[in-house]
Amino acid sequence: MAGSGATPPETGASPYDVGALRADFPALDQRVHGRPLVYLDNASTTLKPRAVVEAVRRAFERECANVHRGSHALSAAATELYEGARAKARDFLGAEREREIVFVRGTTEAINLVAQSYGRSSVGPGDEVLVTELEHHSNFVPWKMLCDERGAALRVLPAGEGGELRLDLLPGLLGPTTRVVAVSHVSNALGTVNPVAAIARLAHEAGAVVVVDGAQAAAHGPVDVRALGCDFYAFSAHKAYGPTGAGVLYGREALLERMPPWQGGGDMVLSVSEAKVRYRELPYKFEAGTPNVAGAFGLAAALDYLGGVGPARVAAHEAALLERATRALSALPNVRLFAAPARRAPVVSFEVEGVHPHDVATVLDREGVALRGGHHCAQPLMRRLGVAATCRASFALYNTFDEVDALAAAIGVVTEAFGCRSTKG
Ligand code: ALA
Repeated sequence: MAGSGATPPETGASPYDVGALRADFPALDQRVHGRPLVYLDNASTTLKPRAVVEAVRRAFERECANVHRGSHALSAAATELYEGARAKARDFLGAEREREIVFVRGTTEAINLVAQSYGRSSVGPGDEVLVTELEHHSNFVPWKMLCDERGAALRVLPAGEGGELRLDLLPGLLGPTTRVVAVSHVSNALGTVNPVAAIARLAHEAGAVVVVDGAQAAAHGPVDVRALGCDFYAFSAHKAYGPTGAGVLYGREALLERMPPWQGGGDMVLSVSEAKVRYRELPYKFEAGTPNVAGAFGLAAALDYLGGVGPARVAAHEAALLERATRALSALPNVRLFAAPARRAPVVSFEVEGVHPHDVATVLDREGVALRGGHHCAQPLMRRLGVAATCRASFALYNTFDEVDALAAAIGVVTEAFGCRSTKG
């Protein structure tokens, strides 16, 4: 992952042919407001390579059948591709077994599954759940809901000025009543790469399980759930070049085995009677109803695509983009960058002095530059930063150095439009 030790190439060089690779992404080939699209909102969702679009299309044009059910050829073919996607997700995450891979709608659903199933059966009055100040609401709200329902307490590990977690405070927040530690692998708002393995070690010593929100990590470098030592890991396909509405929850087999299902319905049962319902084996007891078959096809194609480029080479290219963006934006007179964590995915959060981030994003959009201005569903972090919102440029494997320069130039248009006067020294 960028910032996790990858060596950036010389600025202007790339470990792969970015120009050629861009031809794989049809959405890049368009103009907005009459200008070439500069897409820097990849933390919201990435664009999709043609191979993913084709895989989703195939699910409707060819293997258009339900999975695990039919005795006909199309259903068998669809099931094979669907289960093949599970095997690819297992390999992608470095998990041991396919039964540890649960298909879900996305990271949000994965975390809600853990909170509702593991949480409701393991967290009670007087217990504690620890989250961090860097969390997206999707790894904060489900835990707050659980604590409110179960009479447990929600604790929050603060972030420091530099955008890194205050690990020095972690031992004091862990104790015999800590049941769950929920932490993002990468902060969506700042790009901070959190020291998940170190956090997991301490959490396990305290007897807690570790739930990792990997939504912002999966696209940016190799992930290895066993090296991280986490109990659960979630990511969404759509932030890693796959389709929306598909995602993965990895869970350690021993934990998944003893967790109750959280949704009931077809395909997750062995037998049903008025007296008793017997559930299927892992992972199916967590996959009630017809799944997102096309989403799984698309996810598999996305993982193949990422694997083809090479996660380590992606990380190196993105590290170079990040370095150039940090340098270019720091040099702008009216721009303030939020935090500079040492280990960082390709995300730059900034403000243009005196201009609301929504206005910045709107003017940038007119210049063809797409990025996000807002609280990024991370309001606890925004409070720590002392702002209501930031502008966030987030990069992907297809972004170029020219696009970084286009961002800097477009910010110049913002400062001119709003007549900013620099308060920098
Ligand atoms: N979670 C997405 C983001 O950070 C939407 O923008």
